[in-house]
Amino acid sequence: MREENEALPIKEFYNPRKSNYEEVYRKSMEEPEKFWKEASKVVEWYRDYDVMLDDSNPPFYKWFKGGKLNVSYNALDRHVKMHRRNKAAYIWVAENGEEKIVTYDGLLRRVNNFARSLIDLGMKKGDRIIIYLPMILEAPVAMLACARIGVVFSFVFAGYGAGALADRIKDSGAKLIVTSDGANRNGKVVELKKIVDEALEETSSVGTVIVVKRTGTSVNMEEGRDIWWHDTVKDGQTHVEPEWMDANDPLYLLYSSGTTGKPKGVLHGNGGYSVWVANTLKWAFDPQEDDRWWCAADIGWVTGHSYIVFAPLILGLTSIMFEGAITYPAPDRMWEIIEKYRVNILYTSPTAIRTLMRYGDRYPKMHDLSTLKTLGTVGEPINPAAWKWYYENVGNSKCPIIDTYWQTETGGCMIAPSLGLGLPPLKPGSGTFPMPGVEPVVLDENGKEVPAGQKGYIAYKRPWPGMLMTLNNDPERFKQVYFEKYPGMYFCADYAMKDQDGYYWLLGRSDEVLNVSGHRLGTIEVEDALISSREVAESAVFGKPDSVKGEVIVAFVVLKDEFVNDREVIAKIRKNIRENLGPIYVPEEIHIVKTLPKTRSGKIMRRVVKAVALNQFPGDISTLENTASVEEVKEAIEEFR
Ligand code: WTA
Repeated sequence: MREENEALPIKEFYNPRKSNYEEVYRKSMEEPEKFWKEASKVVEWYRDYDVMLDDSNPPFYKWFKGGKLNVSYNALDRHVKMHRRNKAAYIWVAENGEEKIVTYDGLLRRVNNFARSLIDLGMKKGDRIIIYLPMILEAPVAMLACARIGVVFSFVFAGYGAGALADRIKDSGAKLIVTSDGANRNGKVVELKKIVDEALEETSSVGTVIVVKRTGTSVNMEEGRDIWWHDTVKDGQTHVEPEWMDANDPLYLLYSSGTTGKPKGVLHGNGGYSVWVANTLKWAFDPQEDDRWWCAADIGWVTGHSYIVFAPLILGLTSIMFEGAITYPAPDRMWEIIEKYRVNILYTSPTAIRTLMRYGDRYPKMHDLSTLKTLGTVGEPINPAAWKWYYENVGNSKCPIIDTYWQTETGGCMIAPSLGLGLPPLKPGSGTFPMPGVEPVVLDENGKEVPAGQKGYIAYKRPWPGMLMTLNNDPERFKQVYFEKYPGMYFCADYAMKDQDGYYWLLGRSDEVLNVSGHRLGTIEVEDALISSREVAESAVFGKPDSVKGEVIVAFVVLKDEFVNDREVIAKIRKNIRENLGPIYVPEEIHIVKTLPKTRSGKIMRRVVKAVALNQFPGDISTLENTASVEEVKEAIEEFR
């Protein structure tokens, strides 16, 4: 695969005379103080910072110490005061095609109004709230209103089930939830408020639930706790003075899967994070004042936080925000929106591209996509075939593809071609080079740098402004997960390879975290949910490569004695996972077996199950207690085929 790519660097967009990437990058490495003084001006500071980076207590780095700012001020007031008062901040497109355009002035008014309601409800700086909303304008409004008054929000993706929501409420200690009656998805309604009600049965911190009316679904409103958004938020002209936040005060908390059953509460701050997301968007995509930017992620994931809400608003851009699914009501939905709204930059995921590619070229050909200038991807490695299809059929071989590699923890792009700094020749499937300020290295197990062309683990040798500050309630886990493997460096559990030309190739996770359709899901979270079903005694879960979704979840389960293997049992197990964790966690395949391979100490050997099921060499199985179970896994897979 690599050789094929290396034969194919796309030089079309490369103009060595215009490129200042190397110079900028060098400055960021050699003169970071000067570099960040300049780059930090992407936001307006209420008070300038004193210290660029306080690294006296690693790994708890403090960027821009002493600086004060407000992110909602930077996203809104600043533009309204300048010349962007009447500029569209969002062109919002509903699933049914309805559209709403909200200007910077209009968004500021809504944010002020909602911030006022939060204050009236007793919320104050440092309090935590949960936002559990679909892709409607109230989502960015709520996020920015929190940022305005210093309330730390945790957005929970509206596809999560009640169990996952309850875990996040408990860990965050949220006092309030913002949700809606329902969400539109593929022509159906998902009853969000009902899921909130269920989650609240298991938790005790929440005193108020604000409900947006979106679908008109009937809901249960609990007296004294639940209130309607439209009854509570007064649509007037109120000005809420921004709370001037320290650069290192927390902005939001976003949960992400790790290698245990408990999701990690990634905490991002106000200063470093906003400087990072705004700069990386500029460097990677080079958006112009009049461009229309469409980041087609869900706001509930980090991509949506950084590149639908914070970065584009700080830069004063116009974004498309789309409520629906890219294949509903037809597989040309995405192309239709690009044509109708004359989108200039599209940022989506490899899974979306592969899904649309499967429907064939005729769908993009039905629409005029000529306004597109730049295409982007994020979330998982993009295979060269999908890259080429995107490049040729969507970009008409005229748009560079910006393959951005990053994580919830990194806040924004880490490795990506820098269109804004003069693009390097592209190699399909490579994220090319690091963003300024980022110093990656590819290491072997013992921390030795591997030679060019060899696979190793990617790590970062210095902190960058957008990095997470800590894990909520768990500073020890923060140190252990990211900084223990290679002391003094940030480790993120991805495999990578640097080729002879210095290009980085990201090669997927090295831990037991799955990447399903670009979503990070924990193996153990799924196993825990499986054994919480009444029917299941034991389970082993792993990811199987899939040509569209990247990976799909496969589960092997042992039933409790009183249950028999039939369709009904499997349907019940699926339902339990759907309700508990959410639909994306439901395994594609569930195989029932009598025993699972275990070590003599009783540990289930997930690695062996996976190898046998995928027809690979299982490695050393001499420590197995029961080799017959291996045969059973094989048989189950053969029956399935
Ligand atoms: C993977 C999403 C290859 C990677 C922004 C990472 C990628 C995980 C790419 C983070 C890419 C993301 N090429 N792999 N361009 N982008 N990944 O936290 O394994 O949801 O660790 O953040 O996705 O997923 P997360």
